[in-house]
Amino acid sequence: MRILSGIQPSGKLHIGNYFGMMKTMISHMENADLYVFIVDLHALTSVHDRDRLALGTVEAAADFLALGLDPDKCTFWVQSDVPEVCELTWVLSTLAPMGLLERCHSYKDKIAKGISPSHGLFSYPVLMAADILLYQAHQVPVGKDQKQHLEVARDIAQKFNHEFGETFVVPEPAINEQTATVPGTDGQKMSKSYGNTIPIFMEGKGLKKQIMAIQTDATPVEEPKNPETCNLFKIFALFASPERLAEVRSLYINGGAAYGYLKLELLDLITDHFAEARARKKRFLDDPGEVRNIMRKGAEKARLKAAPTLELVRDRVGLNY
Ligand code: ADP
Ligand code: TRP
Repeated sequence: MRILSGIQPSGKLHIGNYFGMMKTMISHMENADLYVFIVDLHALTSVHDRDRLALGTVEAAADFLALGLDPDKCTFWVQSDVPEVCELTWVLSTLAPMGLLERCHSYKDKIAKGISPSHGLFSYPVLMAADILLYQAHQVPVGKDQKQHLEVARDIAQKFNHEFGETFVVPEPAINEQTATVPGTDGQKMSKSYGNTIPIFMEGKGLKKQIMAIQTDATPVEEPKNPETCNLFKIFALFASPERLAEVRSLYINGGAAYGYLKLELLDLITDHFAEARARKKRFLDDPGEVRNIMRKGAEKARLKAAPTLELVRDRVGLNY
């Protein structure tokens, strides 16, 4: 089974990225043919700052390595180091239905949030389809927000197979319902582009500030509250032990849950949860050349899979003669 997923280096990676995708990917290291990559070409749709993109790419790679991804047990690379993906994107774009792309929420949401509408932003799902189909991935672990993009990839794969003959594996999304949408500090989906994140590797005062900023209602401590609709509870649940979570749930239901106190407890839980990874990340960032080397080697490995798929596609559509 080939499992593949990518992440944009468009800002500090956050606990929504971690629980929605990174943790699942890392857990598949031993049991799958695993493909993990940093999608710098996708990030270009929102980041037009040379240093931010370049540093963000190294940092996102260091994040994965620090969290335990072993490059010897998977294929781990930077998207733009495999140029085959761009050629495939073009071929697929000639099959991608306009109506389907026009219906994509992610495009509409990003524009509503102030990202300028460009052709790249519009055709973002086609590049994503190329990412997936180039490596013949069977399963794609993502957060719920990417479900529609997976449908676009499936649609394009089926269309291609129908028009040109069986070529692509039709990929399946893998969405973990419990962590499908981790809320941000404001209660909306946590997202780098919404400024509502708790970054994985933030620490000290910065982390405290973010956690204290988690929006809660004004219900007094002693009053009962609904844990299912509380933003703080949902984030707390990601880190607390089952026993502690049961206690806190009962405080919500019966009265006695103090938001300020729970926030401080959450601060300790998050600090401890990522303590080892934080130390490893510092070591990787001290040696960015080493991170770059790991990614280059990973791209060579990825190209071994990408090149034959592209050759087959060129053959099927009539570009080889
Ligand atoms: P962002 O929205 O912060 O820019 P990306 O679009 O780069 O994040 O997402 C990378 C991966 O993390 C995707 O699989 C996405 O579904 C997942 N993800 C992002 N935000 C969340 C969230 N709040 N909850 C669950 N998964 C998320
Ligand atoms: N669009 C995805 C996101 O924003 C990132 C991505 C790009 C991706 N290519 C991919 C995810 C291929 C899975 C597979 O989260």
